[in-house]
Amino acid sequence: MYDQAAIRELFEKWGHEEIEGDPGETTSRWAVPHINHIILDRWLPREGSALDAGCGCGVESVRMAGRGLIVTAVDISTSLLEHSRERAEKAGVADRIRLVRADITEPLPIPKNSFAVCIAMTGVVSHTGDRYRDAIANLVACVRPGGLIILGVASYYGKIRQYLSEGRLDDAEHVADTRFTHTVSDTFEDRCFTPQELTDILDARNCRIVAMFTAPTIGAYGYVGESDEVVRRGLALEERFLGTPELLGVGEQLIAVSEKTT
Ligand SMILES: C[S@@+](CC[C@H](N)C(=O)[O-])C[C@H]1O[C@@H](n2cnc3c(N)ncnc32)[C@H](O)[C@@H]1O
Repeated sequence: MYDQAAIRELFEKWGHEEIEGDPGETTSRWAVPHINHIILDRWLPREGSALDAGCGCGVESVRMAGRGLIVTAVDISTSLLEHSRERAEKAGVADRIRLVRADITEPLPIPKNSFAVCIAMTGVVSHTGDRYRDAIANLVACVRPGGLIILGVASYYGKIRQYLSEGRLDDAEHVADTRFTHTVSDTFEDRCFTPQELTDILDARNCRIVAMFTAPTIGAYGYVGESDEVVRRGLALEERFLGTPELLGVGEQLIAVSEKTT
């Protein structure tokens, strides 16, 4: 079911603005990157090497390089890697970011057991459809024992809740029955996960969950078109309830921070 050609076709065409999300850029009203930044700022190490899997236009790669990490940024899309290069040059950190075009469902052409942290944020592993186990195994293989793996995936309960609240019963039933959904494209489906399922998959790869978050609670596009004041207040509430156990899973993205034990 994983269709590499469909994924490439979509992400080669994706514009910078579609996954833009640096909070410093005032046009950004997409909640996910803001939440990602809050969580990454809490968990990222201050030194060592970082792998940004499915780096998109390089927002997180540039932020990680800016905090002193040496970054390897991997993506299937050459055009998004080019955006990453431009962003890194503008930020003056290009010498600390290596760009690699690769598909994370295949063994990666980068060192194994070496990275202090691997991040794959905003649904990258979900995009790999039924190849998610291979993708997670390939990412874990690159991290050194004691290093962190931080995954942001589509949430099973969150997607069902979102579709129900929008009156999209067919879509809600489809996720409920199959765990797959057309999130970003009609040409491929994203795999959705429950907190327990993600815990078990990581556990099977000797990765122990150290924290789990769900966000944004109201859906990724909740702030599009809103004023600065609404965005500020909304994000403050999101931050207040990040990691609240009763809410785990209801947000659109489920984020797991795990440690590779051996
Ligand atoms: C929604 S974007 C997220 C980008 C970035 N992680 C972020 O949080 O801004 C998903 C990214 O995953 C990349 N991607 C999707 N499938 C991939 C695969 N199998 N291997 C490598 N990259 C992939 C896409 O090209 C795209 O850049």
